[in-house]
Amino acid sequence: MAMKVQVIFYSMYGHVWQLAEAVAAGARSVAGAEVELLQVPELVPDAALERTGAKALRAAFAHIPLATPEHMVEADALIFGTPTRFGMMAAQMRNFFDQTGQQWMQGSLVNKVGSVFASTATQHGGQETTITSFHTTLLHHGMIIVGVPYAEPRLMEMGEITGGTPYGATTIASPDGSRTPSANELAIARYQGTHVAEIALALKKGK
Ligand SMILES: Cc1cc2nc3c(=O)[nH]c(=O)nc-3n(C[C@H](O)[C@H](O)[C@H](O)COP(=O)(O)O)c2cc1C
Repeated sequence: MAMKVQVIFYSMYGHVWQLAEAVAAGARSVAGAEVELLQVPELVPDAALERTGAKALRAAFAHIPLATPEHMVEADALIFGTPTRFGMMAAQMRNFFDQTGQQWMQGSLVNKVGSVFASTATQHGGQETTITSFHTTLLHHGMIIVGVPYAEPRLMEMGEITGGTPYGATTIASPDGSRTPSANELAIARYQGTHVAEIALALKKGK
């Protein structure tokens, strides 16, 4: 039986989407893993998205299907990606989780492997707090949290500005959004996908 990974993200300008593709690619590299890339619904009115330029940028990943709380139940591992909003997850992701009351009550996400990656505009703008505060939600669902161990040496890169934390992959978008995920950040994201999939596979085999 296949081990199923869902990579579920929200992205306004595309940075988290690019990380999500790398995370999904990493998970797909694990034999026996079946990987789906999904996004949560937008909440911001079209006019506001148009004003900030997000509408055009979002067209690049509009083809990615929407996640649903019911579908999450089928996964063995769930990897979530969100941009930072004031040091925490984006409202779009929060809204998605606010619709998981039934899954919470039925314990249907208990024992799934959970992991988080994120994006901020600035270097010290809350990457770690976004991921670790997200973990609280996953723990309430009974998930087994996995990050990125320092076995991934790119976490120690000091020769350039880079995202990447032991809690999960990150990128730094810059205040005007002009920076795109670096090779180092994308490699860490791939590592996270592979690492989560390997752990979920081992857990599934052990069942
Ligand atoms: C309302 C709002 C709050 C934000 N809060 C933060 C913040 O606390 N720290 C930070 O570095 N960036 C912050 N940002 C910038 C976003 O995190 C950034 O646009 C995002 O990481 C880019 O990812 P995306 O392209 O996937 O949307 C904020 C952006 C908005 C719109």
